[in-house]
Amino acid sequence: MATLQYDKHIPEIVLPNSRSFRLTGSYSESDCILIYKSWDLLSRPKTLFKDNSVLFYPSAGYDLLTPTIVGLPFCTTFYFYECSGFPFTKIKMLQQKLSLLSDDSRCSLSEHSNGCDYQFTHDNIVRNVYWVRGHNKSFLEKNVNLSMYFHRGDSPGEGGSGEYWDSEFLPQLARMANSGTLRVVTQGQPGGINSRASKWLKEISINNKSVMHRDGLYFIGEVSTTALGEAK
Ligand SMILES: C[S@@+](CC[C@H](N)C(=O)[O-])C[C@H]1O[C@@H](n2cnc3c(N)ncnc32)[C@H](O)[C@@H]1O
Repeated sequence: MATLQYDKHIPEIVLPNSRSFRLTGSYSESDCILIYKSWDLLSRPKTLFKDNSVLFYPSAGYDLLTPTIVGLPFCTTFYFYECSGFPFTKIKMLQQKLSLLSDDSRCSLSEHSNGCDYQFTHDNIVRNVYWVRGHNKSFLEKNVNLSMYFHRGDSPGEGGSGEYWDSEFLPQLARMANSGTLRVVTQGQPGGINSRASKWLKEISINNKSVMHRDGLYFIGEVSTTALGEAK
């Protein structure tokens, strides 16, 4: 695997709907780099609005904004799984943040016992963001067209799941992609990267001067069920 260095400071992101967006907070510089690198390295679908393509992020906590931006060119539906509760202030804060991605600055919110759903329109396509209060593995029972898998901040020292999504479960996730190819953006923890998948993923150093848990190395690329030795 080649290691790419990417130290450019990028304070602003031009979104797929051509509007500029400025991330703020302690992760902003690294997340800008991560967004641009992911957009550079991953192929864009030709028929996004018809495909109903899905992004999945296990053990997501409240880390919704950057992964949603990462997925905008590739996905219409976003599933974030988290087994703990979602405080009211965070629910409202995320509604405000997601409304900044919306073509008309609006984002609807509906709360229910299993989490909350956000809906907004970006680049004239309706986007649904589901924050699901539940165990990661229940996502594997869903019948969806998985297009992208995003995963970070799930190390054992961080109160993470201890589940090997990037190795053990990666073939199952790839089988959920109708096209047979899954876009991957992950830190590869815990458990490391599936050995068959590793040659399809680029190792990207995001802000290696930082010690923040979402910085450091990422693995970005596309893996197919064939590469993983799985029949579709
Ligand atoms: C350190 S936090 C990281 C959250 C997020 N990934 C981030 O980078 O901000 C790990 C999260 O995984 C959640 N978690 C642990 N095991 C889980 C499971 N089996 N299913 C869903 N969530 C889980 C924990 O509740 C915790 O919020």
